[in-house]
Amino acid sequence: MAERDWDAATYDQISAPQQAWAREQLERLQLSGDEVVLDAGCGSGKVTALLADMVPRGRVYAVDVAPSMVQHTRGALGDRVVALCQDLTELSLPEPVDVIFSNATFHWIADHAKLFGALARAIVPGGRLVAQCGGQGNIDSFRRLADEVAAQGDFATYFSDWQGPWNYAGAEPTAQRLREAGFSEVSTWLEPKPTPFDDPAPFVRTVCLVRHLDRLPAELHERFIDAVLERAGRPFVLDYVRLNMTARLAGEPR
Ligand SMILES: C[S@@+](CC[C@H](N)C(=O)[O-])C[C@H]1O[C@@H](n2cnc3c(N)ncnc32)[C@H](O)[C@@H]1O
Repeated sequence: MAERDWDAATYDQISAPQQAWAREQLERLQLSGDEVVLDAGCGSGKVTALLADMVPRGRVYAVDVAPSMVQHTRGALGDRVVALCQDLTELSLPEPVDVIFSNATFHWIADHAKLFGALARAIVPGGRLVAQCGGQGNIDSFRRLADEVAAQGDFATYFSDWQGPWNYAGAEPTAQRLREAGFSEVSTWLEPKPTPFDDPAPFVRTVCLVRHLDRLPAELHERFIDAVLERAGRPFVLDYVRLNMTARLAGEPR
């Protein structure tokens, strides 16, 4: 799998936690049905489909940097959405959008100032941002034990200079960065979401450890996953903490 790509078909099957968080966010959106909407980091398109249902007279742009995710979204949704393979920090859409929605994506992006700047340029004055991603403290205990395993034996050489794939920002610095990017009416808050798993291996292989596995040769993948899960023990609970953000781009609505 190419760096930054995902196993989209498996993600589509096992992303029940992400879908549940997305549904809670969608309830906050309150659309009138004719908006132009961006799903920023659309993944396999499962959540994008819910968004498309909410704007029967509007349009949805589904953007993701992972080719397999974009392909899956196109396959699943066809011409119900416009799916584009782009890095959100370099976002370039054919038209400005009224609403930006994003779920479980921004923490995969290191430079939030650049991200929020790109989003601000993509939205109309008065347009709304409703987003949630991993926030400060997210999967702290899982991260700690993955780091411990990565520092051991055969694995260590592959992780020696690695900072990890995630940017788990705090609520206040995020609010500040959104204001600096031109957003107003900014609200940000952290929300613990501890999530138990009966069969964690497919989930951690596809989501939590996806970028760790990029660094390892294929023959070490299962050994790495097994070692992390053994260290985690049972019951297996991911100590998720979500960072919510709502904001409006400064300026008069159209
Ligand atoms: C955990 S998935 C969430 C997908 C979807 N929003 C959902 O809720 O199921 C994270 C997604 O963020 C995408 N992503 C990560 N970095 C990105 C970037 N810089 N630009 C665009 N998409 C990115 C990944 O490719 C992946 O599809």
